[in-house]
Amino acid sequence: MNDMTPSPARTDAASATRALPDAQTVTDVTHWTDRLFSFKVTRPASLRFRSGEFVMIGLLKDDGKPLLRAYSIASPAWDDELEFYSIKVQDGPLTSRLQHIQPGEQIILRPKPVGTLVHDALLPGKRLWFFSTGTGIAPFASLIREPQTYSDYDEVILTHTCRDVAELEYGRRLVEQVKSDEMLAELTEGGTSKLRYYPTTTREESPKMGRITDLIDNGTLFDDLGLPHGLSPETDRAMVCGSIGLNTDLKAIFERHGLREGANSAPAEFVVEKAFVG
Ligand SMILES: Cc1cc2nc3c(=O)[nH]c(=O)nc-3n(C[C@H](O)[C@H](O)[C@H](O)COP(=O)(O)OP(=O)(O)OC[C@H]3O[C@@H](n4cnc5c(N)ncnc54)[C@H](O)[C@@H]3O)c2cc1C
Ligand SMILES: NC(=O)c1ccc[n+]([C@@H]2O[C@H](COP(=O)([O-])OP(=O)(O)OC[C@H]3O[C@@H](n4cnc5c(N)ncnc54)[C@H](OP(=O)(O)O)[C@@H]3O)[C@@H](O)[C@H]2O)c1
Repeated sequence: MNDMTPSPARTDAASATRALPDAQTVTDVTHWTDRLFSFKVTRPASLRFRSGEFVMIGLLKDDGKPLLRAYSIASPAWDDELEFYSIKVQDGPLTSRLQHIQPGEQIILRPKPVGTLVHDALLPGKRLWFFSTGTGIAPFASLIREPQTYSDYDEVILTHTCRDVAELEYGRRLVEQVKSDEMLAELTEGGTSKLRYYPTTTREESPKMGRITDLIDNGTLFDDLGLPHGLSPETDRAMVCGSIGLNTDLKAIFERHGLREGANSAPAEFVVEKAFVG
């Protein structure tokens, strides 16, 4: 065989790289439960995004076409790598395969970040609430590591509600890391000490149980945090990421308290984004 002839393995690798547009390499994978995992990939040098935004990521289908889904970037805008926090839907077109990715393998990442869960979509305030359920914590995993979160607000409260205790673990560990990370403390000028974490479960016994909507309505959330009851358009700002049901119910609660929905083009007191469709 001529030295210039590629080996079968090299030919496969080269054609795989060629066939995979916007390819990024997986650097780390952590499985949290049989339904949840997180992974990191290399970051394209040209990718600029605002903490809280989402991108389209995916894999190639058998027919060679890309299969893409929206994913919140869970890492902050200053990080060298990109982190994602994902569901595993057993018969889901993407995640039935994505859940098996290994370090060294490649995914597709379309470098066009968008989204409403960004600081630019909120008017200045004093207290910032991040309300999440399930994988809806992903954009807030980014925002609780974003220096602007702490320079813009006096208080930052992350609520995360899941069915079971094990589903809270990714967020619990992350908050613990954020609060103890010296580099992050420096980057945020001690701001991470303002972060408060309020985890709840709805189907498995845990120290705090209940849907966040009920805990707002009956005042438990405010009592537990030592805050005055209710949300005020003067001081409170909120970002929400969960199922369509959660988003709709929280939006109604906010509007009853006089908060208005914001957008990139018209900042206001709260913003909402779907954690998934369906
Ligand atoms: C703006 C936006 C951001 C998103 N960010 C993330 C993210 O950061 N992490 C993530 O895991 N998913 C996220 N999703 C959902 C994601 O786009 C896919 O739906 C998910 O990866 C499943 O893909 P699939 O092809 O396997 O199944 P799909 O055919 O897309 O979904 C099948 C069914 O699985 C359920 N499902 C899908 N996603 C979820 C989920 N995240 N949590 C619970 N149930 C779900 C729904 O009932 C859905 O109908 C986001 C969706 C949107 C619209
Ligand atoms: N999580 C699991 O163990 C599991 C297992 C198999 C399949 N699934 C399926 O996967 C899909 C998503 O499940 P998920 O658990 O990730 O997300 P989810 O159904 O949106 O539930 C996540 C959390 O949000 C709460 N919630 C849902 N709607 C709410 C609302 N309108 N207001 C306030 N809180 C609300 C839930 O409380 P409630 O518990 O009170 O609803 C739960 O604690 C569902 O279709 C589900 O059937 C989930």
